[in-house]
Amino acid sequence: MRLLSVLATFSSLLSLSVAQKPHKYHTLVELSNSGKGPKGQILLNDNNYNDLTSAPRNYTAVVLFTAMDQRFGCTLCRDFQPEFDLLGSSWNKQHPKQDGIFFAVLDFSVGKQTFQRLQMSTAPIMMLFPPTTVGSAAEHAPIRYDFNPNDVNAAEAVAHWVSSRTKQTVTIHRPFNYVKFVTMIVGVIGTATMSKLAYPYLAPALYSRNLWAALSLVAVLLFTSGHMFNHIRKVPYTVPGRNGGVSYIAGGFSNQFGLETQIIAVVYAVLAFSSIALCLKMPRMESAGSQKIAVMAWNLVLLVMFSFLMSVFKMKNGGYPFFLPPLIA
Ligand SMILES: *[C@@H]1O[C@H](CO)[C@@H](O)[C@H](O)[C@H]1NC(C)=O
Repeated sequence: MRLLSVLATFSSLLSLSVAQKPHKYHTLVELSNSGKGPKGQILLNDNNYNDLTSAPRNYTAVVLFTAMDQRFGCTLCRDFQPEFDLLGSSWNKQHPKQDGIFFAVLDFSVGKQTFQRLQMSTAPIMMLFPPTTVGSAAEHAPIRYDFNPNDVNAAEAVAHWVSSRTKQTVTIHRPFNYVKFVTMIVGVIGTATMSKLAYPYLAPALYSRNLWAALSLVAVLLFTSGHMFNHIRKVPYTVPGRNGGVSYIAGGFSNQFGLETQIIAVVYAVLAFSSIALCLKMPRMESAGSQKIAVMAWNLVLLVMFSFLMSVFKMKNGGYPFFLPPLIA
């Protein structure tokens, strides 16, 4: 009897002490508003990580595992941190009592043991711990966030992700970026002024047919000679050939070397310029004698270059039966 009554007193004392200890939910609300770290964010360490994430949870916890120390060189961690701060403060502004969602950060410098226990070897990692008071056990498992390093407004993306997994809507209140706005206005005015001032000098060039023709010709030569192929396939410039020489023409049609395309580009350019000279320059020559010589000279250039082009083609494709004098290779 005595023992039983002692036990009863003991258990009532125990339940009293449990009742007096504030529910962890209220501790977490206080931590979110504590002013340590950004508003609406709990700074975790190895000790209080379990308080936040252990069951039972009648709230959602969004935890960012990060490594802000310069030593770790985690660029994404540092890029993402302000976005996460904004996420927490936006929620806290509208929900000072947190209303069932907590945002927390565990930095590697104060959470090594937790990182090890969870076998996390990369950062940042973000997990959402759903409430354990509703739904099935499978629904209580933490959910991992997929970072997209190209997200400019990452806070909005995460807010959308959190909203889709809770019954609440997280809205981001991004402060207006005055510096960016002013920079943009100054930039626009500056560009407009510069263009207006420079226009009288640039206009002749902009309207010059020869300039555009030259630019187009360079582009055409660059791309018809296979510059893009080299760029994409990263082909070698030349390769060591037989007898210690270098081979600069690749055999077969599905291969080419860097030097080969440059040779082809030069051949094409010479062919193009001799055609242009024959069409545009020759008819305007005054003296019939020198005109005759010039026409012959340009035709000779055309013939030799085309002959060379065909011999290169024969090198790539041995079975090709045709050739053009003077180069019969
Ligand atoms: C969680 O439980 C505590 C204690 O019962 C309560 O005060 C708090 O309002 C609950 N939170 C939510 C989001 O239901």
